[in-house]
Amino acid sequence: MLKTNLFHFAILLLIGGLALSFAYTASSDTDADGVTEVVTNGSPPGATEAFDKMMAVLTHKRCVNCHPSGDRPRQGEDSHYHNFGVRRGADNHGLPALQCETCHQQENNNFSGVPGAPEWSLAPLRMQWEGLSRVEIARSILDPAKNNGRSLEETVQHLTEHELVLWAWEPGVDANGTPREKPPVPKDEYIQAVKEWAAAGAPIPEK
Ligand code: HEC
Ligand code: HEC
Repeated sequence: MLKTNLFHFAILLLIGGLALSFAYTASSDTDADGVTEVVTNGSPPGATEAFDKMMAVLTHKRCVNCHPSGDRPRQGEDSHYHNFGVRRGADNHGLPALQCETCHQQENNNFSGVPGAPEWSLAPLRMQWEGLSRVEIARSILDPAKNNGRSLEETVQHLTEHELVLWAWEPGVDANGTPREKPPVPKDEYIQAVKEWAAAGAPIPEK
């Protein structure tokens, strides 16, 4: 009898110990190189990692080429000015004689190298990201004065579902037939990261 009680006691200790070590790992973040980071800014460690992943995408040229400062879209891996003298125009769809949709169709044209997705047009000037730091971009997408009055939920929806955003993972080939580079984080991981970051209260680090 005493033996079985001791046995149960030992099992309970073991479970307790496991639970404790679990709780401990949940409050710290271990890097791939085994270094344990202590998060000091009060946001859950997962949120910091999620922010890093999300912003690695938003600062990529597949996004920034279409969120430029000024009136000209950018093209390619070196983000050169769009050729043919393409300009923003009054409604972000190009000048009347040279509308984006004249060339850009609903999907990529991999014969001519013209990328395509529904509603292809330039992000409005107040959504310009070119030259901004990742923290400035994050503040901008949460600022109702700049983001078309979107709530956090609506911003998450745009970031995870909008076709111009998702195009970045199917960017097609350029006019020379060379595949365009995709953002550095796989699509599913990015979507997951955006949701995790938002669920943690959308914390923006100092830098
Ligand atoms: C072909 C051009 C184009 C590309 C490429 C593009 N965007 Fe946009 N983006 C737009 C346009 C146009 C709007 C404005 C649409 C609106 O507000 O409904 C916009 C708006 C947004 C917004 C709304 C809120 C804000 O303040 O910025 C977010 C977020 C966004 N884009 C994220 C992205 C991300 C992330 C990528 C890359 C993975 C990307 N976009 C690539 C054209 C583009
Ligand atoms: C005369 C045809 C034409 C018009 C009009 C046009 N484009 Fe393009 N666009 C192209 C071609 C061709 C490419 C591909 C060039 C390449 O990558 O080699 C391209 C590429 C782009 C890219 C580069 C994507 C990337 O990340 O490399 C963006 C962004 C873009 N266009 C935005 C626009 C916007 C916004 C408009 C309207 C304001 C517009 N374009 C009008 C033909 C056009």
